[in-house]
Amino acid sequence: MTATAGAYIERRARLAARMEPGSVAVLATAPEVLRNGDSDYPYRHDSHFYYLTGFTEPEAVLVLLAPVGEQPARSILFCRDKNLEREIWDGYRYGPEAARTEFGFDEAYPIDELDAQMAKLLANVPALYYALGHSAALDAQVSSWLKAVRAQGRSGIAAPASAHHLLGILDEMRLLKDAGEQSAMARACSIAAAAHARAMRFTRPGVFEYEIEAELLHEFRRNGAQFPAYTPIVASGANACVLHYNQNNRQCREGELVLVDAGCELDGYASDITRTWPVNGRFSAAQKALYELVLQAQDAAFAAIVPGRPYSCMHEAAVQVLAAGMLDLGLLDKAKYASAEDAIAGKAHLQFYMHGTGHWLGMDVHDVGTYRDLSVAERPSRPLLPGMALTVEPGIYVRPAEGVPEAFWNIGIRIEDDVIVLDKGCRVLSSDAPKGVAEIEQLMEKR
Ligand code: GLY
Ligand code: MN
Ligand code: MN
Repeated sequence: MTATAGAYIERRARLAARMEPGSVAVLATAPEVLRNGDSDYPYRHDSHFYYLTGFTEPEAVLVLLAPVGEQPARSILFCRDKNLEREIWDGYRYGPEAARTEFGFDEAYPIDELDAQMAKLLANVPALYYALGHSAALDAQVSSWLKAVRAQGRSGIAAPASAHHLLGILDEMRLLKDAGEQSAMARACSIAAAAHARAMRFTRPGVFEYEIEAELLHEFRRNGAQFPAYTPIVASGANACVLHYNQNNRQCREGELVLVDAGCELDGYASDITRTWPVNGRFSAAQKALYELVLQAQDAAFAAIVPGRPYSCMHEAAVQVLAAGMLDLGLLDKAKYASAEDAIAGKAHLQFYMHGTGHWLGMDVHDVGTYRDLSVAERPSRPLLPGMALTVEPGIYVRPAEGVPEAFWNIGIRIEDDVIVLDKGCRVLSSDAPKGVAEIEQLMEKR
């Protein structure tokens, strides 16, 4: 068995224990997707499937049978069969027998047998768990299995009487990261932090945004990260005020800032880090004032990450600091808003800070899990728990506008770190990425 198979076996057992006794869950990995011609997009497994299997080949399906009475849970993998010709072209594939022993499944079969086997596996089971309404193709496949089981009705065989959404259960399980996941995330953060430091050392007036992007990708890959966790944002000057900018094709100029939002994916886990630094290595007074305000907002958000307190507290803490700073710096009019609370009540801060302060982070950069407690009618923000992982990413984005001091025009700043909630407070995983004004200036001076 692989060294990590035990963790996947344990997760499957936990899922099976949550299912109706004797019921069946079915979960497919992601399909391969054609980019153009004969060329596919780089293959990326489905996160839920990987969470339960550790298996990264395409064309694979997990079937999990929940325990009932004396009968223990059983997990069955359907995967690509061994095929010498395909392996000559595309490389090694496990095949059912090796996959079963290496990944700790009870049984494994070629994927071509899935439909025939499902008609048997779904006979006389009370319920089916799958990704309800996720894809028309899966819905059609499930329909065909149910039809096949119902066709045996005259022999006294019953089809599942109910269907449950499988992904909701898995989302909740994935929200709490175990020690292995935390360690993968910490490593993904270290690599991304080194990439940001490298990009800072490389930056100077005249470089193109894509050259900075190339430095990031170089550092990701040379440290073994398989992918960027998302398309990197390298936004110089006014581009930093476009939240999802990723053309990355402009030349960075003297006197501007560059905002870089880039994280890598390592062994299935994402990092998500943003740093903003001066193209010439020294912050101007206006840049520094806004930068330190965002830093202060981030510190307030960190302090609000306490287990038991609602997730929304960190956003509220960041907004409070940012709104107060917007008034102090003249971005908002003190004659109109007497206090930060007034400005927030009037939604005035949204002109310069229009996004949330974070999101869950895990295998997906915007990871699964609800942000509210759906079991309570009011749907309040859910309390933080040790083991949750999230980003903390306040920012400020100043587009030219009447009444806004010109010194701040076109400055966009975001500072984003990744944290794990602990029994008390939180652990910042991405603190190796240079962040303080003096720290960044010193590092850039040495380049
Ligand atoms: N990089 C995407 C985000 O920060 O949410
Ligand atoms: Mn983020
Ligand atoms: Mn980000």
